[in-house]
Amino acid sequence: MRPPLCWLLAAATVVSITAAAGSHAVTAEEEIQFRSWMLQHGKWYGEGEYYSRLHIFAGNKRRVERHNAGNHSFQMGLNEFSDLTFAEFKKRFLWSEPQNCSATRGNLPRSSGPCPSAIDWRKKGNYVTPVKNQGGCGSCWTFSTTGCLESAIAIKTGKLLMLSEQQLVDCAQNFNNHGCSGGLPSQAFEYILYNKGLMGEDTYPYRAENGTCKFQPDKAIAFVKEVVNITLYDELGMMQAVGTHNPVSFAFQVTEDFMQYSKGIYSNPHCEKTPDKVNHAVLAVGYGVENGMPYWIVKNSWGTYWGMDGYFHIERGKNMCGLADCASYPIPWV
Ligand SMILES: *[C@@H]1O[C@H](CO)[C@@H](O)[C@H](O)[C@H]1NC(C)=O
Ligand SMILES: *[C@@H]1O[C@H](CO)[C@@H](O)[C@H](O)[C@H]1NC(C)=O
Ligand SMILES: *[C@@H]1O[C@H](CO)[C@@H](O)[C@H](O)[C@H]1NC(C)=O
Ligand SMILES: *[C@@H]1O[C@H](CO)[C@@H](O)[C@H](O)[C@H]1NC(C)=O
Repeated sequence: MRPPLCWLLAAATVVSITAAAGSHAVTAEEEIQFRSWMLQHGKWYGEGEYYSRLHIFAGNKRRVERHNAGNHSFQMGLNEFSDLTFAEFKKRFLWSEPQNCSATRGNLPRSSGPCPSAIDWRKKGNYVTPVKNQGGCGSCWTFSTTGCLESAIAIKTGKLLMLSEQQLVDCAQNFNNHGCSGGLPSQAFEYILYNKGLMGEDTYPYRAENGTCKFQPDKAIAFVKEVVNITLYDELGMMQAVGTHNPVSFAFQVTEDFMQYSKGIYSNPHCEKTPDKVNHAVLAVGYGVENGMPYWIVKNSWGTYWGMDGYFHIERGKNMCGLADCASYPIPWV
């Protein structure tokens, strides 16, 4: 294969490549932008792949521009995923199968006091670990799980641990989880509870692929006493949990426009709201209201370059994209 470097060195002498463009012609300007995007993201392609990626990039870029020209509560932008079709993105980063997400009988203890009108656990203390990156493995559920348990322990003890996602990928199958092919935070909390512990990131590091279980009980540093499931569609219960206890794991349906979310309050009138359609798990670390629109503050696991330093806001109060379908959090042993 020819070294792809040539595509970058040739950037000054761009010609438009209408022949390779298929349904829409790629302009010279779009190709220049593609090359600078390649440089920025350290992307390299063989000659054969270059034109198909350019074509996909140009389509994604036009989608971003169309969206941003409209009147929306959130903005889209180019990011490291802009050379992927949504089908490719889905295959690499989202659940491939429905995860039987249905905490229909919740066991959230009802609190008597009112919820704060806004909260952000990142600002209340050292309670939230830095945004991590799941890489090309459908292991979002493990990051949602560790993020939630890390915060719950930090809020109780003042100690912020970094917990192992790879242990969940490798070891939690008996609780209906599927490593890089998906799983649920509620089921992962159950695993940690019955397995008697979760190791740290340092002793069981992340590898972004399925592996064999290497759990060492004497190295476990985090423990779960009880799993709290929030009742299906009970978004007020989620608000109560985040407002009065700690961040909460939830799942929702990622659709095409979310891949290139950049900032603002994500809202989508077309996504699905039922538990069989959710395909991504994340962590609500707070909520607020902006220009009259209530939103959740959410930690994602696609690295810090995605969204707002790895975070996004999503509209609150409408079960947006099924976000209230399977929320849960652990009560840690401390
Ligand atoms: C933009 O959308 C908001 C909310 O839907 C609406 O209140 C506002 O009038 C719209 N503005 C324009 C210029 O269409
Ligand atoms: C969902 O549950 C059904 C029945 O309980 C089971 O057969 C199936 O394997 C489960 N699917 C997943 C993806 O866990
Ligand atoms: C990962 O392992 C699980 C079983 O733990 C399996 O169901 C799944 O298909 C595997 N996924 C990949 C991408 O190899
Ligand atoms: C919480 O949900 C998980 C599955 O998502 C289930 O295994 C567990 O029994 C539920 N816990 C409670 C206390 O209902």
